[in-house]
Amino acid sequence: MQRKWTHIALCWIVAGAAALLHCDDPQPDFGSPPGRPPDLAVPAPRPDLSERSDAAVAVATPPQPVPAKAALFVRSSRCGECHEKFRIEWSGSSHARANRTPAYRKVVDTASPVLRQLCQSCHLPSQAFGQPDEEPNRPSEGVSCDGCHTIKQVQVTAAQATVSFDPSSGSKYGPIVGASGHYFHDMAYSVLHTKSELCASCHHRMEFQLGAEKRAIPVVLSYSDWQKFGKGKQCQDCHMPSRGTEEVARGSKPRPNVPSHAFGGALAWGKLIRLELAANAKPGEIAVEIQHNAGHSLPSGYVDRRLLLRVEFFAANGSKLSTEERSYGMVLADAAGQPAPFFQAVRIKEDRRLIPGKVHTESIKLPAAPAQVGVPAPVAVPGAAKVTLSLIAAGTAPELRATYGEPSLVVIKTSSYPLPFRIGGSK
Ligand code: HEC
Ligand code: HEC
Ligand code: HEC
Ligand code: HEC
Ligand code: HEC
Repeated sequence: MQRKWTHIALCWIVAGAAALLHCDDPQPDFGSPPGRPPDLAVPAPRPDLSERSDAAVAVATPPQPVPAKAALFVRSSRCGECHEKFRIEWSGSSHARANRTPAYRKVVDTASPVLRQLCQSCHLPSQAFGQPDEEPNRPSEGVSCDGCHTIKQVQVTAAQATVSFDPSSGSKYGPIVGASGHYFHDMAYSVLHTKSELCASCHHRMEFQLGAEKRAIPVVLSYSDWQKFGKGKQCQDCHMPSRGTEEVARGSKPRPNVPSHAFGGALAWGKLIRLELAANAKPGEIAVEIQHNAGHSLPSGYVDRRLLLRVEFFAANGSKLSTEERSYGMVLADAAGQPAPFFQAVRIKEDRRLIPGKVHTESIKLPAAPAQVGVPAPVAVPGAAKVTLSLIAAGTAPELRATYGEPSLVVIKTSSYPLPFRIGGSK
């Protein structure tokens, strides 16, 4: 083992020396056009990958099995030395926090080793290579740069995706055609990185296994749902929009359509969602319409997440009269029929998710009992009384507080309407 690794280190030094010479060039040329294929939806023929990158892999990859400790993921701060903008965007994303959110830690810190391993297979992929969860002065990085850019292959079945990581070759897998390797890393052109299958690595699990036990309970629904509703748009088309023509690395030639790494979740995408008061409500009620255009149902990520509709009624003087809430998501149940997180669930109780393209209408009763707020009934509310509608992304289901703690809430969209109605009466 020792000898093989010395050999790899040598290869690195040799590659490094060559690239360092290259880097002394005052006008570094890190690679030349053609750049990204113009239409990412059409799989480009793999260019001279076998010539260059595979050769590099063949030199640097030790024979199987890969020694656990040796294949560590590189810290994202190192990548940031040349890819600063990528690092800044990524650090604000939930991928960077994947191993640190309070809800996640609440479960993982007390989980059995086998359950923790299941969680970490997606939330901290470096674990698969024996990298420590936390080290002194080195908070763990969740889904780091290498968490995606060492993915070499993904095999997708109806139930789940199986990922092969390749951190030991030193190649970074990415969508640029013909980028030249350098002292820090080699390049491996990967059309996979422009496809939803890459994301399926962690965003597709319709069953799970704990020890010997396998359960047909979904964990993450994004990909299977996207297969139904994605209409040919890849995850990247929506979640990694272009940030324009820029240099990809310090000093390299600008390239078009550099993909954003902010992985905008809730906030960035509110504009694809319509939330309105509908005209045709029954007496004593309002009707709320929700419609969206995502490439999957909402919510459709982690099965224990929810989308909440909050409806708040206000009197003319601004005081809140009442609040109504509706919850969308897949509700799982334990053996006793009670709401349960996926890892304690035995069946799907209810699927209340919002299908894309479809208009979802909710009927909400007008606040009927002014006595609730200490006002003698019935009270006429002058024309300015209003209703406020909000769509809120909940990281975890409010009914699963015992498991995850208080849910993190992000308001995606909100709108207010004046209401010409009488409290307790009709329009
Ligand atoms: C969740 C997965 C994921 C993570 C984490 C991630 N990337 Fe990427 N990255 C991608 C994908 C996918 C693409 C290609 C997107 C496309 O072509 O639409 C990409 C493209 C790139 C590119 C090529 C840019 C171009 O113009 O095509 C670079 C460079 C890059 N990433 C660097 C980084 C760095 C540095 C980090 C960490 C700070 C990082 N990435 C983290 C998925 C990821
Ligand atoms: C010493 C500078 C340097 C460092 C450090 C560095 N890169 Fe790069 N990287 C580059 C250059 C230069 C390119 C090519 C840019 C181009 O051709 O436009 C590149 C390209 C890439 C690509 C695109 C590959 C392709 O074929 O699509 C990815 C992905 C990438 N880097 C990821 C990383 C990751 C992950 C790290 C940290 C582990 C990292 N880089 C660290 C300089 C660096
Ligand atoms: C190595 C595993 C992994 C890969 C690969 C991966 N993700 Fe993720 N992703 C996660 C995890 C884990 C989270 C949840 C982090 C947390 O705890 O908040 C997440 C969160 C997200 C979120 C944020 C959801 C929100 O509301 O904040 C988006 C959007 C997302 N991923 C999109 C993608 C896309 C698009 C791809 C493919 C280009 C991708 N991911 C690839 C593991 C991954
Ligand atoms: C047509 C555009 C589109 C495509 C394609 C798409 N998404 Fe989304 N995605 C959205 C929108 C819009 C939201 C809603 C964000 C919000 O909550 O405001 C969303 C939300 C999410 C979330 C947050 C959790 C949730 O369900 O609310 C995750 C995770 C996610 N998408 C992952 C993916 C993955 C993985 C793919 C590919 C398999 C994908 N998306 C394909 C538009 C898209
Ligand atoms: C198959 C991959 C996978 C497995 C296994 C997995 N997760 Fe996740 N998890 C994700 C992805 C992807 C997201 C982001 C999608 C979203 O936010 O809707 C996520 C989101 C979450 C969230 C909501 C965001 C946050 O961090 O607050 C929590 C909590 C969470 N996971 C906890 C867990 C726990 C605990 C386990 C183990 C019992 C686990 N996950 C197992 C992939 C996985």
